[in-house]
Amino acid sequence: MKALILVGGYGTRLRPLTLSKPKPLVEFANKPILLHQIEALQAVGVNEVILAINYQPQVMQSFLEEFEMKLGIKITCSQETEPLGTAGPLALVKDKLIEETGEPFFVFNSDIICEYPLREMIEFHKAHGGEASILVTKVDEPSKYGVVVLDEETGKVKKFVEKPASFVGNKINAGIYLLNTSVLDRIQPRPMSIEREVFPSIAEDGRLYTMVLTGFWMDIGQPKDYLIGLRLYLDHLRRNSSSELAVGPKIIGNVLIDDSVKIGEGCMIGPDVAIGPGCIIESGVRLSLCTLMKGVRVKSSAHVSGSIIGWHSTIGQSAHVRSMAVLGEDVYVSDTMFLNGVVVLPHKEIASHFVKPEIIMACLFASN
Ligand code: GDD
Ligand code: MG
Repeated sequence: MKALILVGGYGTRLRPLTLSKPKPLVEFANKPILLHQIEALQAVGVNEVILAINYQPQVMQSFLEEFEMKLGIKITCSQETEPLGTAGPLALVKDKLIEETGEPFFVFNSDIICEYPLREMIEFHKAHGGEASILVTKVDEPSKYGVVVLDEETGKVKKFVEKPASFVGNKINAGIYLLNTSVLDRIQPRPMSIEREVFPSIAEDGRLYTMVLTGFWMDIGQPKDYLIGLRLYLDHLRRNSSSELAVGPKIIGNVLIDDSVKIGEGCMIGPDVAIGPGCIIESGVRLSLCTLMKGVRVKSSAHVSGSIIGWHSTIGQSAHVRSMAVLGEDVYVSDTMFLNGVVVLPHKEIASHFVKPEIIMACLFASN
């Protein structure tokens, strides 16, 4: 079975992290986002994953080589010369997606994290006999997503509305599809939206079905949602009694700590923390709801909460970093500094306090 992952876009909403790596390679719970997805696909028998990319192909290439070897699965890249949206990239690799057996294929948005009930989805797809299946989930703010109006009994989609201006329902497209190869006949190799141009027409033909996702789901394409996603993911590990979660007197709630991390005396870590490889946590440090990427040093008595700290950054002694601060790669926060909700570009040194949550160190919040 094959799968295509849509890895386009510049990931501007996850800057400054995406100034150092493409979004799908940014670690989530100590693993590249993409790897969570590829492992789930491999677990249900997918033997080839095609990454549809239009950004930083060289970095992606070295990732592919590393994980093809590690996982023993074929991973290839299909690069667009211009962004082809969420449908166009499928037409580019039409021949690769069509298998002799006529099997359907998976399509994933690259920025979503959930429990991936892919086996159930395959069963569901076979049983309804339509052309396409999409996973849906319930959210409080449906206007940011693709909204699906469906027949509750059969799961058949009556209407698919991408980013509706007014309320049509709260079940939304979770960004995971299982498609028959016949769907490819509806797509051309031009900039084309699967949500706006393809799904509405399949729905009109009565051949689009949805399976409602049980368990957690999150689009982790922006810092606030990334941290909510982390909390949900760690809670999911807890409910499944995962041995990956840290235990010990310094640990509160759900915490993930790479084996190579060094932790000093008198620290309090958790809840909802992920600490990447090679991090050094000195004595008396307090961490809650945060991610420390690889190689971060947190000096003694510093506090980090509700924030994401980029690779190889340093948090000075007794410094406080909090309320949705996002530090890029190799940022140096001087001792005793107070950083509230700031976004810091890579390779910067911070030697003054930033107390207002709105303060942003550079104009980084583009709309996409
Ligand atoms: N290769 C390629 N080329 N990929 C692209 C392109 C492109 O031109 N444009 C977007 N993508 C990829 C993104 O990288 C992402 O993985 C996926 O397509 C969806 O694009 P987003 O920009 O993340 O869309 P969204 O989050 O606003 O909405 C989508 O996801 C929601 C769920 O998170 C839609 O599919 C909604 O219907 C859905 O509810
Ligand atoms: Mg998205």
